[in-house]
Amino acid sequence: MTKILVAEDDDLLRDVIYNILVLEGYEFFSTVNGRQALDSFVSVKPDLIVSDIMMPEMDGFELLKEVRFLPLGVTMPFLFLTARTERTDVKKARSLGVDDYLFKPFDAWELIEAVRTRLNRRRAVELFDTRAAHLQTVVMLGNVIEARDPYTAGHVDRVRRLALSLGFALNWNAEEIAILEFGAVLHDIGKIMVPRYVLTKAGLLDDEEWEVMRQHPQVGAQMLEGVDHLRLAIPYVLYHHEWWNGKGYPFGLKGADTPPEERLLAIVDGFDSMTSDRPYRMGLSMADALVEIRKNSGVYFDPEMVDVFLQTYKE
Ligand SMILES: [Fe+2]
Repeated sequence: MTKILVAEDDDLLRDVIYNILVLEGYEFFSTVNGRQALDSFVSVKPDLIVSDIMMPEMDGFELLKEVRFLPLGVTMPFLFLTARTERTDVKKARSLGVDDYLFKPFDAWELIEAVRTRLNRRRAVELFDTRAAHLQTVVMLGNVIEARDPYTAGHVDRVRRLALSLGFALNWNAEEIAILEFGAVLHDIGKIMVPRYVLTKAGLLDDEEWEVMRQHPQVGAQMLEGVDHLRLAIPYVLYHHEWWNGKGYPFGLKGADTPPEERLLAIVDGFDSMTSDRPYRMGLSMADALVEIRKNSGVYFDPEMVDVFLQTYKE
């Protein structure tokens, strides 16, 4: 339940606010001055604060200033209630970082609208911040993989871009696209346990080296298992070396038995590998790689997705 902490010394006005907010389904925490509100702030952990300015013991300005210094309070939505005549107050409130103010007298609709707007804005910013922060961590991990293998420089970012454009072309929704981005960056995370000399070997791998290499999808999936916001990307990591014809690894899944995440990533990962130089071969030109993708439609790759890929690549 959304919690709103209110500081207001006028009993009548406090009751009015109480009735409006409780009727809207908010949880209401009532205090009569800034000092009380500040004390409650830590235990209540509200989602928003509504405060009068002129109050005994500690006024609204002092409360706002103190709240902004607390770790939870830096981005806490904060609304002032003020009389329309107090111009200088508004200026001071702004400089202290108030989010909005309501002029007395206000009606129920104004209060509800102001509260709702600030809460929605706060939620949007939080979601964005969290996702941006997670993505940075994910990119950092991807860079670690790349740093160990100079021959794949830029691979992670190119696969990410190609994967996103194919995801858009397939009309995947925003959530699917977000997971796709993480999965594309992290798909080779399990290579962290593959020795560097195997990653950079100029020649074909012997049986033992190949055995280690083949484990990277499962190792990567295990790594992500314990991380809540990355777990959704596991299909990308676990299945990205499965082939449409069932001759991939680690499970030898066939056709549509492999999840769509895998079928998408296999195409873009394959395309980028074909066009990159490797210790044991030169990369193909873009045009030759596209021919190769088409040739392997129904062999390594999902034929329907190949069609969409070739179409978007042309465009
Ligand atoms: Fe891989």
